[in-house]
Amino acid sequence: MGLSWVWCGVLLYLVLFLIPFPNLVTALPQGYLKASPSTSWTNSLSAPDSVKFRDGSTVRIILTSGSSGLVFACGFFCNQTCKDYLFAIFYLYIDEVDMGKVREDVGPRVVWSANQKNPVSINATLQLSSERGLVLQDADGTIAWSTNSSRKSVAGINMTDTGNLTLLDENDEASWQSFDHPTDSLVFKQTLGAGQNLTSEGGLFSLSVNADEMLFSFNSNPPITYYSGASISLSFDINTSVYDYTPVSFGVYDGRLGFATFMYWIGYDYRPLQNLLYVRLGADGHLRGYAWQKLRSKWEEVDSLKEYIDFCDYLMACGNYGICRNAQCSCPVPKSINGTNYFKRTNDSLPDRGCSLVSPLSCEDTQNQFFLEVQDVTYVSSGRVVQNTHLEGCKQACLMNCSCQAASLQYYSWSPFRGDCHILSGILSLKSGDRNVTEYIPAASIYIKVQNLPRAIPSPGRKKRNRFVIILGSSLASLFGLFLLIGILVLLFRKNNDSDEAEEYYLDYVPGMPTRYSFEDLQAMTKNFSKKLGVGGFGTVFEGALIDGTKIAVKHLNGINQIKKSFLAEVETIGSIHHFNLVRLIGFCAQRSHRLLVYEYMSNGSLDKWIFHKNHEFNLDWHRRKKIILDIAKGLTYLHEDCDKKIAHLDVKPENILLDENFNAKVADFGLSKLIDRDQSQVVTIMRGTPGYLAPEWLSLVITEKVDVYSFGVVLLEILCGRRHFDHSQPEEVMHLLGLFMEKLQKKQLLDLVDKYCEDMQLHGAEVVDMMRVSAWCLQSDYSKRPSMSMVVKVLEGVMDVEENIDYNFCNPPIPNTRARVMHPEVNVGGATTLLDSVLSGPR
Ligand SMILES: *[C@@H]1O[C@H](CO)[C@@H](O)[C@H](O)[C@H]1NC(C)=O
Ligand SMILES: *[C@@H]1O[C@H](CO)[C@@H](O)[C@H](O)[C@H]1NC(C)=O
Ligand SMILES: *[C@@H]1O[C@H](CO)[C@@H](O)[C@H](O)[C@H]1NC(C)=O
Ligand SMILES: *[C@@H]1O[C@H](CO)[C@@H](O)[C@H](O)[C@H]1NC(C)=O
Ligand SMILES: *[C@@H]1O[C@H](CO)[C@@H](O)[C@H](O)[C@H]1NC(C)=O
Ligand SMILES: *[C@@H]1O[C@H](CO)[C@@H](O)[C@H](O)[C@H]1NC(C)=O
Ligand SMILES: *[C@@H]1O[C@H](CO)[C@@H](O)[C@H](O)[C@H]1NC(C)=O
Ligand SMILES: *[C@@H]1O[C@H](CO)[C@@H](O)[C@H](O)[C@H]1NC(C)=O
Ligand SMILES: *[C@@H]1O[C@H](CO)[C@@H](O)[C@H](O)[C@H]1NC(C)=O
Ligand SMILES: *[C@@H]1O[C@H](CO)[C@@H](O)[C@H](O)[C@H]1NC(C)=O
Ligand SMILES: *[C@@H]1O[C@H](CO)[C@@H](O)[C@H](O)[C@H]1NC(C)=O
Repeated sequence: MGLSWVWCGVLLYLVLFLIPFPNLVTALPQGYLKASPSTSWTNSLSAPDSVKFRDGSTVRIILTSGSSGLVFACGFFCNQTCKDYLFAIFYLYIDEVDMGKVREDVGPRVVWSANQKNPVSINATLQLSSERGLVLQDADGTIAWSTNSSRKSVAGINMTDTGNLTLLDENDEASWQSFDHPTDSLVFKQTLGAGQNLTSEGGLFSLSVNADEMLFSFNSNPPITYYSGASISLSFDINTSVYDYTPVSFGVYDGRLGFATFMYWIGYDYRPLQNLLYVRLGADGHLRGYAWQKLRSKWEEVDSLKEYIDFCDYLMACGNYGICRNAQCSCPVPKSINGTNYFKRTNDSLPDRGCSLVSPLSCEDTQNQFFLEVQDVTYVSSGRVVQNTHLEGCKQACLMNCSCQAASLQYYSWSPFRGDCHILSGILSLKSGDRNVTEYIPAASIYIKVQNLPRAIPSPGRKKRNRFVIILGSSLASLFGLFLLIGILVLLFRKNNDSDEAEEYYLDYVPGMPTRYSFEDLQAMTKNFSKKLGVGGFGTVFEGALIDGTKIAVKHLNGINQIKKSFLAEVETIGSIHHFNLVRLIGFCAQRSHRLLVYEYMSNGSLDKWIFHKNHEFNLDWHRRKKIILDIAKGLTYLHEDCDKKIAHLDVKPENILLDENFNAKVADFGLSKLIDRDQSQVVTIMRGTPGYLAPEWLSLVITEKVDVYSFGVVLLEILCGRRHFDHSQPEEVMHLLGLFMEKLQKKQLLDLVDKYCEDMQLHGAEVVDMMRVSAWCLQSDYSKRPSMSMVVKVLEGVMDVEENIDYNFCNPPIPNTRARVMHPEVNVGGATTLLDSVLSGPR
């Protein structure tokens, strides 16, 4: 009797509290859900926990991460016509006031989905079982997706408040988690590691991590990088308080890509942009950041690469065959073709969908193919390159190759007739003119293969004329044959000449300059690249030896597959810079797609191995460290002030300071950011360098050589303290060296910071602390207050004193300055000239 009362109570409880009411969140399961043999959900619009939104999408909620405000939820999702459903994770907004109702005016934002390629229909089911984890089964019984976590039994599933859907075993350990299987979005707490990527809907673009850079690639074969960089700043132009929308940095840190909550603002209780919630790689290759604007209850978005890439540089900005000019799309208008239209818009109302050929290419009918010239465009080439040919040879090579859609000849600087012929098998968007923006491949003519329809059967009245045409044609043909013969003879005759020309070209670059090596030379010198010295952001470094036995370091630059003349010019610039404290460039190689730089060999490797090593054997004493600091300062002074072209290094860090056998320090990799930027991505990179060493003004985009002074300040501090600026292995409050430095400065306890693992450093504690003042001087957030590198040298040499009035506020980013952003992009490019007085003194 008593028992049935209990049952009754339970039933009443269920009816009152657990049976779901439409849109009532108290009804929605939240957080953790235990697996049972029969847990399953059917995709049905009539389910009480399904919600139709005003933007046309519908969801059936399975589990949420919270009960009010912006929460994550997982469940079935569809948009518009609702034929195809996804099992997805999305943001929802649950009204705090209105009884926990899901707000229908705030559309769901999908941040992950299981079955993008395999959508299911209505009546599909999602099962949660302890043996098989999650299994998504379509209405017809086919399995659309599963977690395949069969090795461990599943005790339950948790929709965490970070947006990470996890399957847990009995020990509450995750056997599967959605964060490990990213789709096209990355939420605030999620990071991307090596081997992972975001892939845009449709699969054209992806974003991945390579060493310390993020790579945006177009998924052709081979992939084409359209942007790369260490980090980007995301800022919203929203009319609210500055503090709500301070820019946040998104980039690679410790080999993982994600949001940087701590890069500059370390040591402060500063939460940058709580409201920036996720980024998404769109089907058009744009990476957009999304923030929740609480006051207006709506999502805001920002195109995160807007400051970094021109619209036309997205490789499909105007679709196939489309020509992009000033963010407008058009179809090719060939030069000197009258009347006939060879191209049409793929969709008349959507110009950015590209163009298509009116009569498609037919490999069976190559006689009726010919080329239309489109002048002065830049394009991206990932196809075959035929070296040292002329225009006719280039066109011929394209005609003979069925998959060739266009050909273009990049003339050599030493010949108006010969060059490298690019055989393009896919025509992405072409970019019109504008050499000043894209220095990637100089604008040139591209010859697009088109098809004429087979000739119509001639009508009797026209026969006569046709005969004439045939006669003319055959005489032309024999003439052509004659020319061909002559051409072949000329070619045979010129064969030797060509190599002479190449030789000349080779000689052009020799006097006083780094030596040009062939790829085969370098292969031999490095024993086929067998001994790897290291991997950096720019490429992999191998050990080698010259014929006389002198050791060399050969750097194979990554991701450059474009022929470019300015590579040689940049190499010349770098090669002409000689200073004892700069690593010398001995030679280079630019052959086919290979770009290599040959440097003097530094036997003691890079500084990081010496100062961050807790092994006593590797320790550098105070005397050596002082010398190294002075060496670095002298090297940078030379770059900034003494060579012909002012050069900002832009990536000063211990990995780029090399030590020779006598522990002389030399700065490496200067000038590279410029070289790579232009070659690799056809895009102007604004933010460069390594997180942690980046000066705060990167955010305002007013960049001077003082960014190097800031990075020098960080490196100096690291040398004195014998630890990295950011150290995971330390307790959280002391993880960030700069924050700790500010704290100890205030408490006047700087001695605590001196390298603990080195006795000699401890012995010279007072001197070390004194040197920390130099670091503080260099780290000031107002770049105009930082000293020049030559002043630093003077202080280190004891002929000058550190300025008294130091602002110990090292990490406060300046308030973003929208005016400064309008600067000419060239100003920001790392390398030779970074300063424009007019910009610096302009209105702020
Ligand atoms: C659903 O479609 C509408 C209109 O195409 C679009 O604005 C909205 O962003 C879509 N919603 C999602 C979550 O994709
Ligand atoms: C889904 O299942 C319900 C109940 O079994 C059935 O009435 C309905 O017709 C099904 N819908 C579709 C589209 O198959
Ligand atoms: C999941 O398991 C099924 C059956 O065991 C297998 O066919 C499928 O390839 C697996 N999928 C993945 C992604 O491992
Ligand atoms: C589920 O995730 C939340 C964090 O979102 C966590 O607090 C909770 O402990 C998790 N539950 C289990 C059973 O792991
Ligand atoms: C998934 O989320 C949980 C809770 O937020 C977190 O502990 C775990 O590290 C996350 N997994 C990954 C791969 O980030
Ligand atoms: C992205 O990741 C997927 C799955 O891990 C992989 O199949 C694909 O090749 C990757 N794409 C790129 C461009 O790295
Ligand atoms: C920004 O705010 C100011 C003052 O509140 C207002 O006058 C202006 O119209 C706003 N601008 C926008 C774009 O909302
Ligand atoms: C090209 O077309 C224009 C008008 O459409 C005409 O005036 C001109 O004569 C044509 N030129 C040739 C070479 O056919
Ligand atoms: C062109 O685009 C419009 C708008 O999206 C669409 O309604 C129409 O069906 C498209 N036309 C073709 C031929 O694809
Ligand atoms: C045809 O051109 C494509 C694209 O450049 C290239 O990948 C392929 O190797 C070429 N085929 C031949 C037979 O040369
Ligand atoms: C490129 O040059 C043209 C003409 O010289 C100029 O109008 C345009 O502003 C330049 N573009 C950029 C981005 O500097």
